[in-house]
Amino acid sequence: VKSPRSTPAPALASLYRPLDIGGGRTLRNRVALLPMTRTRAEIDGTPTALMAEYYAQRAEAGLIVTESTAVSEVGRGFLTAPGMYTTEHALGWREVTDAVHARGGTIFLQLNHVGRVNNLQHLRRPVPPVAPSAMPIPATERNITVNIARVTPYARPRALDTDEVPLVAQQFGHATRLAVLAGFDGVQVHADSGYLIHQFLSTNVNRRTDRYGGTARNRARFALEVIDAVTGVNGPEYVAMKLTPGLTLSDIEEDDIDEKYGYLIDELNRRGEFAFLHMQIEKLAESALYKGIRANFRGPVLAEDSRPAAEYAQWVDSGTADLVGFGRDFISNPDLPERLAAGHPLAPIAAESVYTGDATGYTDYPRWSGPERPSSTRPCPAGPAAPPR
Ligand SMILES: Cc1cc2nc3c(=O)[nH]c(=O)nc-3n(C[C@H](O)[C@H](O)[C@H](O)COP(=O)(O)O)c2cc1C
Repeated sequence: VKSPRSTPAPALASLYRPLDIGGGRTLRNRVALLPMTRTRAEIDGTPTALMAEYYAQRAEAGLIVTESTAVSEVGRGFLTAPGMYTTEHALGWREVTDAVHARGGTIFLQLNHVGRVNNLQHLRRPVPPVAPSAMPIPATERNITVNIARVTPYARPRALDTDEVPLVAQQFGHATRLAVLAGFDGVQVHADSGYLIHQFLSTNVNRRTDRYGGTARNRARFALEVIDAVTGVNGPEYVAMKLTPGLTLSDIEEDDIDEKYGYLIDELNRRGEFAFLHMQIEKLAESALYKGIRANFRGPVLAEDSRPAAEYAQWVDSGTADLVGFGRDFISNPDLPERLAAGHPLAPIAAESVYTGDATGYTDYPRWSGPERPSSTRPCPAGPAAPPR
């Protein structure tokens, strides 16, 4: 698929310049499909043929970052969210990467461990979730039990022992080895959104007194051990990291953002050239923290803040970002890069089918075929509410 077929308006032209991310990989445009949990895997976390179809439909994105994918059974937060810790998982993902590559796309696997944000209803023998400290998520937090219409309190997690923490980091390394075998172009470490790495980074839910708690550097130690485990597989150029400083999802607080994220970026730079850094910050374009990180980080930056395409194109033009991404618009517009280039209106997303387990609202959004045929026949509420990230 040539992307785009249409000549984009000058205001959007910067989004369609190729981008070199090292390792012989050139993204054909600057429009990424952002990582989005869609809960279409098997109950054991194995990716399905339907997932291969979904990602292949969106392969004209310059870059696909997959949905959050668990590095271990206990690290899986949602029923029918995928995993990458068994050979069956890797074989399932291989079908996804083959389908995307057949259409000339580039695909990174987002690796995650949810820590205490875990409902564990997928486990045959439920065990407590693990976390930096034995602090449950407050009962007032919404527990999204995907595919099951019930809301339960989160379980009290077990604090990881000091010598267990490097083993959890190694699970990210194991998943990366499987990602290489499954044909991924790279992996992205999900260090944000209130999940395990972010729990270690936080100042409120990490109460540890060992080498993983206390100072900003100690709280960043687990993140860097994960980075060392994943870069140990195929070098830093195979790896991206996603950071959301200040995002308070799942009751996360961070009182030391400047010091801690500054340190993390320095440590990444020290390790070499990464594929890219993915950043989401509220009011990103005006954020002093972001500007500092952008200036300091050695590699390309994927930035997002739910902005319209024309504003994202200005970001690329002005050097605010190298790459931008869309989430919800890419769900309902599988041909989004072409549709934006051609100036066609965007189809709305149907909120009620975002997390259901079948093709409806997943692979049945059509490509643009003219204004006479509505792009989506489903009713359109305001769009999905607070998503799992
Ligand atoms: C349905 C849904 C699922 C999401 N799941 C993830 C995820 O698995 N990993 C992640 O890093 N972000 C996740 N996000 C956040 C998106 O990557 C993105 O940041 C967000 O949708 C804002 O971009 P948009 O305004 O273009 O939709 C999710 C968002 C949505 C809507």
